[in-house]
Amino acid sequence: MTTTLPAWQALRAHAETMHHTHMRDWFDGPHGLARADRFIAEACGLTLDYAKNRITGETLQLLLDLAAQARVCERRDAMFAGEPVNTTEHRAALHVALRAYPEDGYRALGMPVGEDVAAVLGQMERFADAVRSGAWTGFDGRAITDVVNIGIGGSDLGPRMVCRALASAGSAGPRMHFVANVDGSDLARTLAPLDAATTLVIVCSKTFTTLETMANAGTARDWFVQQGASRADLARHFVAVSTNRDAVAAFGIDPANMFPFWDWVGGRFSLWSAVGLSIAVAVGFARFRKLLDGARAMDLHFASAPAAQNLPMLLGLLDVWYRSFLGAGSRCVAPYCEPLELLPAFLQQLEMESNGKSVRLDGGSIQAGSAPVVWGTTGTNGQHAYFQMMHQGSQLVPVDFIATLEPVSDLPGHHTKLLANCFAQGEALLRGRTAAEVRSEGVSDEALVPHLVFEGNRPSNTLLLRRLDPWHLGALLALAEHRTFVQGALWQINSFDQWGVELGKKLAAPIQRELEGTAAAAPHDASTAALIRRAQAAQSAQSAAA
Ligand code: F6P
Repeated sequence: MTTTLPAWQALRAHAETMHHTHMRDWFDGPHGLARADRFIAEACGLTLDYAKNRITGETLQLLLDLAAQARVCERRDAMFAGEPVNTTEHRAALHVALRAYPEDGYRALGMPVGEDVAAVLGQMERFADAVRSGAWTGFDGRAITDVVNIGIGGSDLGPRMVCRALASAGSAGPRMHFVANVDGSDLARTLAPLDAATTLVIVCSKTFTTLETMANAGTARDWFVQQGASRADLARHFVAVSTNRDAVAAFGIDPANMFPFWDWVGGRFSLWSAVGLSIAVAVGFARFRKLLDGARAMDLHFASAPAAQNLPMLLGLLDVWYRSFLGAGSRCVAPYCEPLELLPAFLQQLEMESNGKSVRLDGGSIQAGSAPVVWGTTGTNGQHAYFQMMHQGSQLVPVDFIATLEPVSDLPGHHTKLLANCFAQGEALLRGRTAAEVRSEGVSDEALVPHLVFEGNRPSNTLLLRRLDPWHLGALLALAEHRTFVQGALWQINSFDQWGVELGKKLAAPIQRELEGTAAAAPHDASTAALIRRAQAAQSAQSAAA
Protein backbone atom coordinates (compact mmCIF):
# COMPACT_ATOMS: atom_id res chain seq x y z
CA MET A 1 0.00 0.00 0.00
CA THR A 2 1.52 3.31 -1.09
CA THR A 3 0.72 5.15 2.15
CA THR A 4 2.87 2.76 4.18
CA LEU A 5 5.93 3.20 1.96
CA PRO A 6 8.87 4.90 3.69
CA ALA A 7 8.88 7.72 1.11
CA TRP A 8 5.18 8.36 1.69
CA GLN A 9 5.77 8.65 5.44
CA ALA A 10 8.76 10.91 4.84
CA LEU A 11 6.74 13.13 2.51
CA ARG A 12 4.02 13.43 5.15
CA ALA A 13 6.52 14.72 7.68
CA HIS A 14 8.15 16.91 5.05
CA ALA A 15 4.80 18.45 4.10
CA GLU A 16 4.40 19.68 7.68
CA THR A 17 7.56 21.74 7.32
CA MET A 18 6.17 23.36 4.16
CA HIS A 19 3.52 25.26 6.09
CA HIS A 20 6.20 27.68 7.30
CA THR A 21 7.75 28.45 3.94
CA HIS A 22 6.91 30.93 1.20
CA MET A 23 8.04 30.34 -2.38
CA ARG A 24 8.89 34.02 -2.66
CA ASP A 25 11.84 33.47 -0.32
CA TRP A 26 13.19 30.75 -2.57
CA PHE A 27 13.42 33.16 -5.46
CA ASP A 28 15.15 35.98 -3.64
CA GLY A 29 18.85 36.37 -4.40
CA PRO A 30 21.00 34.00 -6.45
CA HIS A 31 19.01 30.96 -5.26
CA GLY A 32 16.17 32.11 -7.48
CA LEU A 33 18.27 31.75 -10.60
CA ALA A 34 19.46 28.31 -9.59
CA ARG A 35 15.90 27.29 -8.81
CA ALA A 36 14.64 28.46 -12.21
CA ASP A 37 17.42 26.47 -13.89
CA ARG A 38 16.88 23.40 -11.79
CA PHE A 39 13.13 22.96 -11.94
CA ILE A 40 12.76 22.94 -15.67
CA ALA A 41 12.48 20.01 -18.05
CA GLU A 42 12.10 19.73 -21.81
CA ALA A 43 11.02 17.04 -24.21
CA CYS A 44 9.32 16.78 -27.60
CA GLY A 45 9.24 20.55 -28.15
CA LEU A 46 7.54 21.08 -24.78
CA THR A 47 9.15 23.02 -21.95
CA LEU A 48 7.89 22.50 -18.41
CA ASP A 49 8.80 25.23 -15.93
CA TYR A 50 7.89 23.80 -12.54
CA ALA A 51 9.95 26.16 -10.42
CA LYS A 52 6.84 27.90 -9.06
CA ASN A 53 5.83 24.87 -7.03
CA ARG A 54 5.97 24.37 -3.31
CA ILE A 55 8.88 22.03 -3.59
CA THR A 56 12.53 22.07 -2.63
CA GLY A 57 15.26 19.78 -3.85
CA GLU A 58 14.45 17.57 -0.87
CA THR A 59 10.77 17.40 -1.84
CA LEU A 60 11.65 16.38 -5.36
CA GLN A 61 14.02 13.70 -4.13
CA LEU A 62 11.38 12.30 -1.79
CA LEU A 63 8.83 12.29 -4.61
CA LEU A 64 11.27 10.45 -6.86
CA ASP A 65 11.87 7.99 -4.03
CA LEU A 66 8.14 7.49 -3.84
CA ALA A 67 7.97 6.77 -7.57
CA ALA A 68 10.71 4.17 -7.19
CA GLN A 69 9.15 2.56 -4.12
CA ALA A 70 5.68 2.51 -5.72
CA ARG A 71 7.32 0.82 -8.75
CA VAL A 72 5.86 3.33 -11.20
CA CYS A 73 8.41 2.43 -13.89
CA GLU A 74 7.61 -1.26 -13.56
CA ARG A 75 3.91 -0.49 -13.94
CA ARG A 76 4.64 1.72 -16.94
CA ASP A 77 6.65 -1.11 -18.51
CA ALA A 78 3.76 -3.51 -17.90
CA MET A 79 1.40 -1.13 -19.68
CA PHE A 80 3.74 -0.79 -22.65
CA ALA A 81 4.16 -4.59 -22.70
CA GLY A 82 0.40 -5.02 -23.15
CA GLU A 83 -0.10 -6.81 -19.84
CA PRO A 84 -3.61 -6.82 -18.32
CA VAL A 85 -3.08 -3.62 -16.34
CA ASN A 86 -6.84 -3.03 -16.48
CA THR A 87 -7.26 -5.75 -13.89
CA THR A 88 -11.02 -5.58 -13.29
CA GLU A 89 -11.73 -6.12 -16.99
CA HIS A 90 -8.63 -8.24 -17.64
CA ARG A 91 -7.57 -6.01 -20.53
CA ALA A 92 -4.42 -4.34 -21.71
CA ALA A 93 -4.35 -0.54 -21.97
CA LEU A 94 -2.30 -0.21 -25.10
CA HIS A 95 -3.15 3.18 -26.55
CA VAL A 96 0.60 3.64 -27.17
CA ALA A 97 0.30 1.00 -29.92
CA LEU A 98 -2.19 3.18 -31.79
CA ARG A 99 0.48 5.76 -32.58
CA ALA A 100 3.36 3.30 -33.01
CA TYR A 101 4.78 1.83 -36.19
CA PRO A 102 4.18 -1.87 -36.93
CA GLU A 103 7.87 -2.57 -36.36
CA ASP A 104 7.55 -1.30 -32.77
CA GLY A 105 6.12 -4.74 -32.10
CA TYR A 106 3.44 -4.00 -29.51
CA ARG A 107 1.38 -6.91 -28.19
CA ALA A 108 -1.86 -6.87 -26.23
CA LEU A 109 -2.07 -9.82 -23.84
CA GLY A 110 0.63 -11.43 -25.98
CA MET A 111 -1.12 -10.92 -29.35
CA PRO A 112 0.61 -8.68 -31.92
CA VAL A 113 -1.48 -5.63 -32.76
CA GLY A 114 0.68 -3.68 -35.23
CA GLU A 115 -0.85 -5.07 -38.41
CA ASP A 116 -4.42 -4.49 -37.25
CA VAL A 117 -3.59 -0.92 -36.27
CA ALA A 118 -1.91 -0.26 -39.61
CA ALA A 119 -4.84 -1.76 -41.52
CA VAL A 120 -7.37 0.52 -39.80
CA LEU A 121 -5.15 3.55 -40.31
CA GLY A 122 -5.06 2.66 -44.01
CA GLN A 123 -8.86 2.39 -44.08
CA MET A 124 -9.13 5.77 -42.34
CA GLU A 125 -6.71 7.37 -44.79
CA ARG A 126 -8.63 6.12 -47.83
CA PHE A 127 -11.92 7.27 -46.39
CA ALA A 128 -10.66 10.69 -45.26
CA ASP A 129 -9.09 11.26 -48.68
CA ALA A 130 -12.31 10.24 -50.45
CA VAL A 131 -14.48 12.57 -48.35
CA ARG A 132 -12.06 15.48 -48.57
CA SER A 133 -11.51 15.12 -52.33
CA GLY A 134 -15.21 14.86 -53.07
CA ALA A 135 -14.89 11.30 -54.39
CA TRP A 136 -17.26 10.15 -51.64
CA THR A 137 -20.59 11.66 -52.52
CA GLY A 138 -24.01 11.90 -50.92
CA PHE A 139 -27.22 10.45 -52.33
CA ASP A 140 -27.63 13.08 -55.07
CA GLY A 141 -24.04 12.87 -56.25
CA ARG A 142 -22.73 16.02 -54.56
CA ALA A 143 -19.63 16.03 -52.36
CA ILE A 144 -19.88 15.99 -48.56
CA THR A 145 -19.84 19.47 -47.03
CA ASP A 146 -20.69 18.64 -43.39
CA VAL A 147 -19.68 15.81 -41.08
CA VAL A 148 -21.55 15.13 -37.84
CA ASN A 149 -19.76 13.03 -35.23
CA ILE A 150 -22.32 11.45 -32.91
CA GLY A 151 -20.69 10.11 -29.76
CA ILE A 152 -20.23 10.95 -26.09
CA GLY A 153 -17.44 10.87 -23.49
CA GLY A 154 -14.30 9.44 -25.02
CA SER A 155 -16.08 9.07 -28.36
CA ASP A 156 -16.62 12.83 -28.46
CA LEU A 157 -14.35 14.89 -26.21
CA GLY A 158 -11.00 13.93 -27.77
CA PRO A 159 -11.92 14.34 -31.45
CA ARG A 160 -13.99 17.44 -30.71
CA MET A 161 -11.11 19.04 -28.81
CA VAL A 162 -8.49 18.17 -31.44
CA CYS A 163 -10.68 19.35 -34.33
CA ARG A 164 -11.16 22.64 -32.50
CA ALA A 165 -7.44 22.93 -31.73
CA LEU A 166 -6.37 22.28 -35.31
CA ALA A 167 -9.21 24.05 -37.07
CA SER A 168 -6.85 26.48 -38.71
CA ALA A 169 -4.23 23.83 -39.52
CA GLY A 170 -6.07 21.86 -42.17
CA SER A 171 -6.46 22.69 -45.80
CA ALA A 172 -10.14 23.00 -46.65
CA GLY A 173 -12.14 20.01 -45.52
CA PRO A 174 -15.81 19.61 -44.67
CA ARG A 175 -17.34 21.51 -41.76
CA MET A 176 -17.25 19.44 -38.57
CA HIS A 177 -20.05 19.15 -36.03
CA PHE A 178 -20.21 17.18 -32.80
CA VAL A 179 -23.36 15.97 -31.10
CA ALA A 180 -23.13 14.30 -27.70
CA ASN A 181 -26.07 15.21 -25.51
CA VAL A 182 -29.29 13.19 -25.55
CA ASP A 183 -31.05 16.52 -25.03
CA GLY A 184 -32.67 16.75 -28.46
CA SER A 185 -31.79 20.40 -28.73
CA ASP A 186 -28.18 19.42 -29.40
CA LEU A 187 -28.99 17.28 -32.45
CA ALA A 188 -31.83 19.51 -33.65
CA ARG A 189 -29.68 22.64 -33.56
CA THR A 190 -26.88 20.84 -35.41
CA LEU A 191 -29.00 19.31 -38.16
CA ALA A 192 -31.29 22.29 -38.76
CA PRO A 193 -28.99 24.22 -41.12
CA LEU A 194 -27.58 21.14 -42.88
CA ASP A 195 -28.40 19.70 -46.28
CA ALA A 196 -28.93 15.95 -45.82
CA ALA A 197 -27.65 15.20 -49.33
CA THR A 198 -24.20 16.58 -48.45
CA THR A 199 -24.04 15.49 -44.79
CA LEU A 200 -22.17 12.49 -43.45
CA VAL A 201 -22.71 11.03 -39.97
CA ILE A 202 -19.98 9.21 -38.07
CA VAL A 203 -21.59 7.18 -35.30
CA CYS A 204 -18.78 6.78 -32.83
CA SER A 205 -19.22 4.43 -29.90
CA LYS A 206 -16.90 1.79 -28.52
CA THR A 207 -19.79 -0.32 -27.26
CA PHE A 208 -22.45 0.84 -29.73
CA THR A 209 -24.94 0.53 -26.90
CA THR A 210 -24.57 3.95 -25.25
CA LEU A 211 -28.04 5.37 -24.76
CA GLU A 212 -27.28 8.94 -25.80
CA THR A 213 -25.39 7.97 -28.94
CA MET A 214 -27.88 5.38 -30.09
CA ALA A 215 -30.81 7.75 -29.52
CA ASN A 216 -29.10 10.52 -31.50
CA ALA A 217 -28.03 8.14 -34.27
CA GLY A 218 -31.58 6.79 -34.61
CA THR A 219 -33.07 10.27 -34.78
CA ALA A 220 -30.43 11.34 -37.33
CA ARG A 221 -31.33 8.33 -39.46
CA ASP A 222 -35.02 9.35 -39.38
CA TRP A 223 -34.01 12.89 -40.35
CA PHE A 224 -32.24 11.66 -43.48
CA VAL A 225 -35.34 9.75 -44.55
CA GLN A 226 -37.54 12.79 -43.87
CA GLN A 227 -35.15 14.83 -46.01
CA GLY A 228 -35.63 12.54 -48.99
CA ALA A 229 -33.01 9.82 -48.60
CA SER A 230 -34.07 6.25 -49.26
CA ARG A 231 -33.01 3.46 -46.88
CA ALA A 232 -30.43 2.39 -49.48
CA ASP A 233 -29.05 5.93 -49.62
CA LEU A 234 -28.16 5.78 -45.93
CA ALA A 235 -25.06 3.71 -46.71
CA ARG A 236 -23.51 6.86 -48.22
CA HIS A 237 -24.37 8.92 -45.16
CA PHE A 238 -23.60 6.72 -42.13
CA VAL A 239 -20.32 5.19 -41.09
CA ALA A 240 -19.54 3.66 -37.71
CA VAL A 241 -16.55 3.60 -35.39
CA SER A 242 -16.85 0.80 -32.87
CA THR A 243 -15.58 -2.43 -31.37
CA ASN A 244 -19.06 -4.00 -31.71
CA ARG A 245 -19.55 -5.27 -35.26
CA ASP A 246 -22.87 -7.02 -34.54
CA ALA A 247 -24.48 -3.92 -33.05
CA VAL A 248 -23.26 -1.80 -35.98
CA ALA A 249 -24.84 -4.23 -38.44
CA ALA A 250 -28.04 -4.39 -36.36
CA PHE A 251 -28.30 -0.60 -36.54
CA GLY A 252 -28.17 -0.88 -40.32
CA ILE A 253 -24.67 0.34 -41.09
CA ASP A 254 -22.83 -1.76 -43.62
CA PRO A 255 -19.87 -3.39 -41.78
CA ALA A 256 -17.78 -2.35 -44.83
CA ASN A 257 -18.32 1.20 -43.57
CA MET A 258 -17.26 0.34 -40.04
CA PHE A 259 -13.90 1.41 -38.64
CA PRO A 260 -12.96 -1.01 -35.89
CA PHE A 261 -10.87 -0.69 -32.78
CA TRP A 262 -10.24 -3.00 -29.88
CA ASP A 263 -11.06 -3.63 -26.24
CA TRP A 264 -7.51 -2.69 -25.23
CA VAL A 265 -8.30 0.93 -26.15
CA GLY A 266 -10.04 2.79 -23.34
CA GLY A 267 -12.65 5.35 -24.41
CA ARG A 268 -10.79 8.33 -22.94
CA PHE A 269 -7.52 7.13 -24.53
CA SER A 270 -9.08 6.48 -27.93
CA LEU A 271 -8.68 9.61 -30.06
CA TRP A 272 -5.65 7.97 -31.73
CA SER A 273 -7.75 5.05 -32.93
CA ALA A 274 -10.58 5.07 -35.47
CA VAL A 275 -12.32 7.35 -32.94
CA GLY A 276 -10.09 10.00 -34.50
CA LEU A 277 -11.76 9.51 -37.90
CA SER A 278 -13.41 12.92 -37.64
CA ILE A 279 -9.96 14.44 -37.04
CA ALA A 280 -8.52 12.74 -40.13
CA VAL A 281 -11.46 13.97 -42.20
CA ALA A 282 -11.23 17.49 -40.77
CA VAL A 283 -7.50 18.13 -41.16
CA GLY A 284 -6.43 15.41 -43.58
CA PHE A 285 -4.78 12.09 -42.83
CA ALA A 286 -1.21 13.41 -43.09
CA ARG A 287 -1.85 15.81 -40.21
CA PHE A 288 -3.58 13.08 -38.22
CA ARG A 289 -0.45 10.97 -38.66
CA LYS A 290 1.64 13.90 -37.39
CA LEU A 291 -0.58 14.00 -34.30
CA LEU A 292 0.18 10.32 -33.75
CA ASP A 293 3.89 10.92 -34.33
CA GLY A 294 4.02 13.64 -31.69
CA ALA A 295 2.30 11.30 -29.25
CA ARG A 296 4.73 8.51 -30.13
CA ALA A 297 7.66 10.81 -29.40
CA MET A 298 6.19 11.46 -25.96
CA ASP A 299 5.66 7.71 -25.46
CA LEU A 300 9.34 7.10 -26.15
CA HIS A 301 10.28 9.91 -23.75
CA PHE A 302 8.03 8.52 -21.00
CA ALA A 303 9.38 5.01 -21.55
CA SER A 304 13.04 5.95 -21.44
CA ALA A 305 13.85 9.34 -19.85
CA PRO A 306 15.23 9.28 -16.31
CA ALA A 307 12.52 10.02 -13.77
CA ALA A 308 13.99 13.39 -12.79
CA GLN A 309 13.72 14.63 -16.39
CA ASN A 310 10.61 12.72 -17.35
CA LEU A 311 7.75 15.14 -17.97
CA PRO A 312 4.82 12.78 -17.24
CA MET A 313 6.60 11.50 -14.16
CA LEU A 314 7.32 14.98 -12.80
CA LEU A 315 3.78 16.21 -13.39
CA GLY A 316 2.18 13.09 -11.93
CA LEU A 317 4.37 13.36 -8.84
CA LEU A 318 3.48 17.03 -8.39
CA ASP A 319 -0.22 16.17 -8.72
CA VAL A 320 0.03 13.60 -5.96
CA TRP A 321 2.08 16.00 -3.83
CA TYR A 322 -0.65 18.62 -3.94
CA ARG A 323 -3.58 16.24 -3.64
CA SER A 324 -2.33 13.77 -1.05
CA PHE A 325 0.09 15.83 1.00
CA LEU A 326 -0.98 19.48 0.73
CA GLY A 327 -4.72 18.81 0.48
CA ALA A 328 -5.53 20.56 -2.82
CA GLY A 329 -8.96 19.38 -3.96
CA SER A 330 -8.78 20.81 -7.46
CA ARG A 331 -6.40 21.85 -10.21
CA CYS A 332 -7.04 24.61 -12.72
CA VAL A 333 -5.99 24.17 -16.34
CA ALA A 334 -5.56 27.52 -18.06
CA PRO A 335 -4.56 27.29 -21.73
CA TYR A 336 -3.47 30.73 -22.94
CA CYS A 337 -4.33 29.56 -26.42
CA GLU A 338 -7.90 29.92 -27.63
CA PRO A 339 -7.84 26.85 -29.94
CA LEU A 340 -7.20 24.76 -26.80
CA GLU A 341 -10.48 25.92 -25.25
CA LEU A 342 -11.83 22.37 -25.05
CA LEU A 343 -8.71 20.93 -23.44
CA PRO A 344 -9.97 21.32 -19.83
CA ALA A 345 -13.12 19.32 -20.65
CA PHE A 346 -11.03 16.59 -22.28
CA LEU A 347 -8.70 16.46 -19.26
CA GLN A 348 -11.68 16.25 -16.92
CA GLN A 349 -12.70 12.93 -18.39
CA LEU A 350 -9.13 11.73 -18.75
CA GLU A 351 -8.15 12.33 -15.15
CA MET A 352 -11.43 12.17 -13.26
CA GLU A 353 -12.78 9.06 -14.97
CA SER A 354 -9.38 7.39 -14.73
CA ASN A 355 -8.46 8.20 -11.15
CA GLY A 356 -11.69 9.35 -9.51
CA LYS A 357 -11.81 6.21 -7.41
CA SER A 358 -11.55 5.29 -3.75
CA VAL A 359 -10.46 1.69 -4.14
CA ARG A 360 -6.95 0.45 -4.76
CA LEU A 361 -6.01 -2.29 -7.18
CA ASP A 362 -5.94 -4.76 -4.29
CA GLY A 363 -9.50 -3.82 -3.26
CA GLY A 364 -8.43 -1.81 -0.21
CA SER A 365 -9.27 1.82 0.41
CA ILE A 366 -6.92 4.48 -1.01
CA GLN A 367 -6.84 6.62 2.15
CA ALA A 368 -4.86 9.36 0.45
CA GLY A 369 -7.27 11.37 -1.68
CA SER A 370 -7.43 10.62 -5.39
CA ALA A 371 -8.22 12.56 -8.56
CA PRO A 372 -8.82 16.22 -7.81
CA VAL A 373 -11.46 18.22 -9.64
CA VAL A 374 -9.88 19.35 -12.91
CA TRP A 375 -11.37 22.53 -14.29
CA GLY A 376 -10.55 25.68 -16.19
CA THR A 377 -11.03 27.78 -19.28
CA THR A 378 -8.76 29.69 -21.58
CA GLY A 379 -6.76 32.67 -20.44
CA THR A 380 -7.16 35.54 -20.45
CA ASN A 381 -10.92 34.97 -20.05
CA GLY A 382 -10.51 33.16 -16.71
CA GLN A 383 -8.63 36.13 -15.30
CA HIS A 384 -11.79 38.21 -15.54
CA ALA A 385 -13.95 35.55 -13.94
CA TYR A 386 -12.59 33.18 -11.30
CA PHE A 387 -8.90 34.07 -10.96
CA GLN A 388 -9.93 36.31 -8.05
CA MET A 389 -10.53 33.15 -6.05
CA MET A 390 -7.18 31.68 -7.00
CA HIS A 391 -5.34 34.82 -5.92
CA GLN A 392 -7.18 35.66 -2.73
CA GLY A 393 -9.55 32.79 -1.98
CA SER A 394 -9.15 30.35 0.88
CA GLN A 395 -8.38 27.23 -1.16
CA LEU A 396 -5.11 26.02 -2.56
CA VAL A 397 -5.58 25.61 -6.33
CA PRO A 398 -2.48 24.61 -8.30
CA VAL A 399 -2.63 25.96 -11.85
CA ASP A 400 -1.30 24.62 -15.14
CA PHE A 401 -0.60 27.46 -17.54
CA ILE A 402 -0.25 26.29 -21.14
CA ALA A 403 0.96 28.58 -23.91
CA THR A 404 2.63 28.47 -27.31
CA LEU A 405 5.86 30.30 -28.12
CA GLU A 406 4.81 30.95 -31.69
CA PRO A 407 1.57 32.88 -32.14
CA VAL A 408 -1.49 30.97 -33.25
CA SER A 409 -3.03 34.07 -34.78
CA ASP A 410 -1.19 36.51 -37.02
CA LEU A 411 -3.05 39.56 -35.75
CA PRO A 412 -0.25 41.90 -34.68
CA GLY A 413 0.33 42.48 -30.97
CA HIS A 414 -2.10 39.92 -29.63
CA HIS A 415 0.31 37.11 -28.84
CA THR A 416 2.61 39.38 -26.83
CA LYS A 417 -0.32 40.53 -24.73
CA LEU A 418 -1.46 36.95 -24.27
CA LEU A 419 1.95 35.71 -23.11
CA ALA A 420 2.48 38.74 -20.88
CA ASN A 421 -0.76 37.97 -19.08
CA CYS A 422 0.04 34.29 -18.78
CA PHE A 423 3.44 34.94 -17.22
CA ALA A 424 2.09 37.74 -15.01
CA GLN A 425 -0.54 35.46 -13.50
CA GLY A 426 2.05 32.89 -12.53
CA GLU A 427 4.24 35.59 -11.06
CA ALA A 428 1.36 37.15 -9.10
CA LEU A 429 0.29 33.78 -7.73
CA LEU A 430 3.84 33.10 -6.65
CA ARG A 431 4.85 36.44 -5.16
CA GLY A 432 1.60 37.89 -3.93
CA ARG A 433 1.73 41.38 -2.46
CA THR A 434 2.54 42.17 1.16
CA ALA A 435 0.96 44.90 3.28
CA ALA A 436 4.27 46.75 3.22
CA GLU A 437 4.28 46.68 -0.58
CA VAL A 438 0.70 47.92 -0.67
CA ARG A 439 1.62 50.86 1.60
CA SER A 440 4.77 51.58 -0.39
CA GLU A 441 2.56 51.93 -3.46
CA GLY A 442 0.92 54.90 -1.75
CA VAL A 443 -2.16 53.35 -0.18
CA SER A 444 -2.76 55.30 3.00
CA ASP A 445 -6.23 54.05 3.89
CA GLU A 446 -5.37 51.38 6.47
CA ALA A 447 -8.85 49.87 6.23
CA LEU A 448 -8.18 49.12 2.58
CA VAL A 449 -4.77 47.54 3.03
CA PRO A 450 -5.88 43.98 3.97
CA HIS A 451 -8.12 43.87 0.90
CA LEU A 452 -5.16 44.65 -1.34
CA VAL A 453 -2.84 42.07 0.16
CA PHE A 454 -2.23 38.91 -1.87
CA GLU A 455 -0.89 36.02 0.16
CA GLY A 456 1.01 34.56 -2.81
CA ASN A 457 2.76 31.21 -2.41
CA ARG A 458 0.24 29.73 -4.85
CA PRO A 459 1.76 27.12 -7.13
CA SER A 460 1.72 26.80 -10.89
CA ASN A 461 3.34 24.93 -13.74
CA THR A 462 3.98 26.64 -17.04
CA LEU A 463 4.02 24.40 -20.09
CA LEU A 464 5.26 26.00 -23.27
CA LEU A 465 4.70 24.40 -26.66
CA ARG A 466 6.96 25.48 -29.46
CA ARG A 467 3.86 25.91 -31.60
CA LEU A 468 0.34 24.55 -31.85
CA ASP A 469 0.56 22.06 -34.66
CA PRO A 470 -0.53 18.43 -34.89
CA TRP A 471 2.83 17.07 -33.76
CA HIS A 472 3.15 19.22 -30.64
CA LEU A 473 -0.51 18.73 -29.80
CA GLY A 474 0.00 14.97 -30.01
CA ALA A 475 2.94 15.24 -27.62
CA LEU A 476 0.92 17.41 -25.22
CA LEU A 477 -2.00 14.98 -25.13
CA ALA A 478 0.18 11.91 -24.68
CA LEU A 479 1.88 13.78 -21.84
CA ALA A 480 -1.54 14.23 -20.22
CA GLU A 481 -2.34 10.54 -20.63
CA HIS A 482 0.92 9.40 -19.08
CA ARG A 483 0.70 11.94 -16.29
CA THR A 484 -2.71 10.46 -15.47
CA PHE A 485 -1.15 7.00 -15.49
CA VAL A 486 1.60 8.11 -13.10
CA GLN A 487 -0.98 9.54 -10.68
CA GLY A 488 -2.89 6.26 -10.77
CA ALA A 489 0.27 4.21 -10.28
CA LEU A 490 1.20 6.27 -7.21
CA TRP A 491 -2.28 5.89 -5.74
CA GLN A 492 -2.31 2.22 -6.85
CA ILE A 493 -5.52 2.73 -8.79
CA ASN A 494 -6.70 0.88 -11.87
CA SER A 495 -6.86 3.95 -14.11
CA PHE A 496 -8.51 2.07 -16.96
CA ASP A 497 -11.95 1.05 -15.71
CA GLN A 498 -14.98 3.24 -14.90
CA TRP A 499 -17.41 1.28 -12.79
CA GLY A 500 -18.63 4.50 -11.20
CA VAL A 501 -20.66 5.40 -14.29
CA GLU A 502 -22.72 2.20 -14.23
CA LEU A 503 -25.21 2.67 -11.40
CA GLY A 504 -26.77 5.84 -12.78
CA LYS A 505 -27.16 4.20 -16.21
CA LYS A 506 -28.86 1.19 -14.61
CA LEU A 507 -31.29 3.32 -12.60
CA ALA A 508 -32.15 5.51 -15.61
CA ALA A 509 -33.74 2.63 -17.56
CA PRO A 510 -36.71 1.94 -15.21
CA ILE A 511 -37.23 5.68 -14.62
CA GLN A 512 -37.37 6.20 -18.39
CA ARG A 513 -40.05 3.49 -18.64
CA GLU A 514 -42.04 5.17 -15.87
CA LEU A 515 -41.83 8.52 -17.61
CA GLU A 516 -42.88 6.93 -20.89
CA GLY A 517 -45.80 5.33 -19.08
CA THR A 518 -44.77 1.81 -20.07
CA ALA A 519 -44.02 0.64 -16.53
CA ALA A 520 -45.67 1.11 -13.17
CA ALA A 521 -43.95 3.13 -10.48
CA ALA A 522 -40.99 1.26 -9.07
CA PRO A 523 -39.75 1.78 -5.52
CA HIS A 524 -37.63 4.94 -5.25
CA ASP A 525 -36.53 7.19 -2.46
CA ALA A 526 -39.22 9.77 -1.70
CA SER A 527 -37.30 12.64 -3.32
CA THR A 528 -36.80 10.81 -6.63
CA ALA A 529 -40.40 9.52 -6.61
CA ALA A 530 -41.67 13.09 -6.19
CA LEU A 531 -39.49 14.32 -9.07
CA ILE A 532 -40.86 11.57 -11.32
CA ARG A 533 -44.45 12.48 -10.39
CA ARG A 534 -43.76 16.14 -11.11
CA ALA A 535 -42.34 15.30 -14.55
CA GLN A 536 -45.29 13.02 -15.30
CA ALA A 537 -47.71 15.77 -14.33
CA ALA A 538 -45.91 18.22 -16.63
CA GLN A 539 -46.03 15.68 -19.47
CA SER A 540 -49.78 15.17 -18.96
CA ALA A 541 -50.33 18.93 -18.99
CA GLN A 542 -48.31 19.26 -22.20
CA SER A 543 -50.28 16.45 -23.92
CA ALA A 544 -53.59 17.99 -22.83
CA ALA A 545 -52.51 21.37 -24.22
CA ALA A 546 -51.33 19.91 -27.54
O1 F6P B 1 -20.30 6.08 -19.45
C1 F6P B 1 -18.94 6.32 -19.54
C2 F6P B 1 -18.39 5.85 -20.85
O2 F6P B 1 -18.37 4.47 -20.89
C3 F6P B 1 -17.00 6.41 -21.11
O3 F6P B 1 -16.01 5.71 -20.48
C4 F6P B 1 -16.96 6.37 -22.60
O4 F6P B 1 -15.93 7.17 -23.11
C5 F6P B 1 -18.33 6.86 -22.93
O5 F6P B 1 -19.17 6.30 -21.93
C6 F6P B 1 -18.84 6.49 -24.29
O6 F6P B 1 -18.88 5.11 -24.47
P1 F6P B 1 -19.05 4.47 -25.91
O7 F6P B 1 -17.88 4.90 -26.74
O8 F6P B 1 -19.10 2.99 -25.70
O9 F6P B 1 -20.34 4.99 -26.50
